Amino acid sequence: MNTPNFSKEAILEAFKYRHATKEFDPEKKLSKEAIDFILETARLSPSSFGFEPWHFIVVQDPKVRELLKPLAWGAPVKLDTASHFVLALSMKAPMTKWDSEYISWMMKEIKQFPKEVQEMYGTFYKEFQERDFSLDTDKKLFDWATKQNYIALGNMMTAAALNGIDSCPIEGFHEEKVNAFLKEHLDVDTTKYGIAYMVAFGYRKQDPAQPKTRRPIDKVVTWK
Ligand SMILES: Cc1cc2nc3c(=O)[nH]c(=O)nc-3n(C[C@H](O)[C@H](O)[C@H](O)COP(=O)(O)O)c2cc1C
Repeated sequence: MNTPNFSKEAILEAFKYRHATKEFDPEKKLSKEAIDFILETARLSPSSFGFEPWHFIVVQDPKVRELLKPLAWGAPVKLDTASHFVLALSMKAPMTKWDSEYISWMMKEIKQFPKEVQEMYGTFYKEFQERDFSLDTDKKLFDWATKQNYIALGNMMTAAALNGIDSCPIEGFHEEKVNAFLKEHLDVDTTKYGIAYMVAFGYRKQDPAQPKTRRPIDKVVTWK
């Protein structure tokens, strides 16, 4: 395997270019290859124990986008103008709890662990959930899955920016109403999945009005 060596300057240029795009140019669409590339970076993202507790729905149907608008105050302009609009779902307890069918399936079919490794890894995962992280409620398990889902979010937005593609992460929505919407309009089994965040992709209509603001590095990092 080759060791990647992209220039730091080019990577930082992409980080500075990325901004939470408020309005996209509705005429400019991502190619299929471009959106597939972004979704591939989500798929390749790391997750705790490698159990990938996520699913992504790309909402391209204008009728479905229209129905989402009243539920998501942070999204209407993006729903109207983004080339691609993604709903990121996180897995709930029936999927991610140590003794679930999904976890067994992941170990057996995806990770291809031999029987004894499945048992060992499963015990380790049980102890992690019960003893180390006290993931003892459905809400805690969902939030833990969602933490991991945000890694995929960061990776998708960075990958997009490295390709000159704009994005906007969106948490401006009513969680309960969006979950009801997922069940009613998108056939999601909401006993197993819930909304984590939304993210829009496209090309900016204009450059951001304000320059990027961030706290200085010495306020963000402590060295001891
Ligand atoms: C988890 C998360 C949720 C966000 N939700 C929204 C949103 O609903 N609507 C919106 O316009 N921007 C949203 N933003 C964008 C932030 O306001 C923006 O990232 C922040 O102000 C920093 O600006 P920059 O991304 O342009 O550098 C969200 C950002 C994150 C990380």
